[in-house]
Amino acid sequence: MTYATPTSLIPEVPSFSSKHRFEMHDIARCVRPIEPHIAGVEAIEIFNRDPTLTAMPVIDDGDVVGLLTRQKVFLNFSRQFGHAVFARRPVSRLMSSSPLIVDACTTLDELRHRVINEAPTALEDGFVITKNGRYLGIGTSLGILRLGMAQTESRARELAEAKRAAEHANAAKSRFLANMSHELRTPLNAIIGFSEMIAAETLGPHNTPRYKEYAEDINGSGRLLLDIINDILDMSKIEAGHFKLELDAVDIPSIVQGAVRLVRDRADKKGVIVAIDMDKDLPNPRADVRAVRQILLNLLSNAIKFSRTGTEITVHVDVTPETLKICVADQGVGISEGDLKRVCDPFFQVENEMTRKEQGTGLGLPIVVSLAERMKAGFDLESEAGVGTRATLTLRRAG
Ligand SMILES: Nc1ncnc2c1ncn2[C@@H]1O[C@H](COP(=O)(O)OP(=O)(O)O)[C@@H](O)[C@H]1O
Ligand SMILES: [Mg+2]
Repeated sequence: MTYATPTSLIPEVPSFSSKHRFEMHDIARCVRPIEPHIAGVEAIEIFNRDPTLTAMPVIDDGDVVGLLTRQKVFLNFSRQFGHAVFARRPVSRLMSSSPLIVDACTTLDELRHRVINEAPTALEDGFVITKNGRYLGIGTSLGILRLGMAQTESRARELAEAKRAAEHANAAKSRFLANMSHELRTPLNAIIGFSEMIAAETLGPHNTPRYKEYAEDINGSGRLLLDIINDILDMSKIEAGHFKLELDAVDIPSIVQGAVRLVRDRADKKGVIVAIDMDKDLPNPRADVRAVRQILLNLLSNAIKFSRTGTEITVHVDVTPETLKICVADQGVGISEGDLKRVCDPFFQVENEMTRKEQGTGLGLPIVVSLAERMKAGFDLESEAGVGTRATLTLRRAG
């Protein structure tokens, strides 16, 4: 007589390293096979001895010829005359003769596919796992569940690890940029300072007027480089979390007037009018003074840069019961719908005659967005190509 010996419960699936492939040999339960000519009554006995046994492979001469499930055997035996009919008949009469057979190297994802598309009954009956064509063990839906959990846990660990590595790399990059920018600023300040002196002929007049022009060019280029480096430094400081914000009640009129004063010269040179539309008495929202000033300067500098001579820029300040909105509106070249989604990405600049003529790094708007986020303020950019742009910062009113 051939008996399958009682087998232990399906082993817990251990946690795997990230390289693990989650294949069927991880869940194969080594159930002793039964031969097709064995009598039904013996199968009943085997199932009775091991309550955890849900199915047995039926193997003839090394080949898997069927799967005998507890459910089907007990169902048939519990029928009227079932015992009389099946007790002496061979188990081949009780088995399912076309069970799902999968190779031990089948991955969990492939198995799920096959079960859903070819053999949904395998979820209830179980399936047979083979290795190089030879029987290896039985797979069950519990095994699939356990392996699925282990795979999900392993993927979650992998993702967490990848996220940590990415954050680490990002922090290293920000540190590098901050250090580099700092190292570049020191010599640049010398270039700017001395070129200014030479242009101003502080130590005596030049014999050749071109020298004065060149000194002015050097000074202009130096200042531009300094602006770019400052943008990069700001961005990396914000990203590295070193741009510390201090939220306090801020005096909006003085910030707006101060920012407009700073850009007035540039606007005048371009023939662009900058107007302010705001009430005298304004509430003081909670914000960081430096951040609001920087945001306004970046928005104003864009508005001036992308406006044509003779057009107007207005800074509106609107108060609602809960918010204070500062809006910089221009009548410049505008931004198309497709580009509008991307202009706040670092280093993105719209390709047009203006950007080619004007200087910039493409970091102004990303800095605005990051600073607004850190103050929990809102930022909206509306624009229409050829019509103009409205950039709005929404600050919450204190209290
Ligand atoms: N007011 C505006 N009008 C038209 N285009 C704008 C305006 N503000 C921003 N842009 C577009 O968005 C791009 C990104 O802006 P920004 O991040 O400030 O970078 P930069 O000013 O250095 O080019 C600009 O190059 C420009 O194409
Ligand atoms: Mg800009």
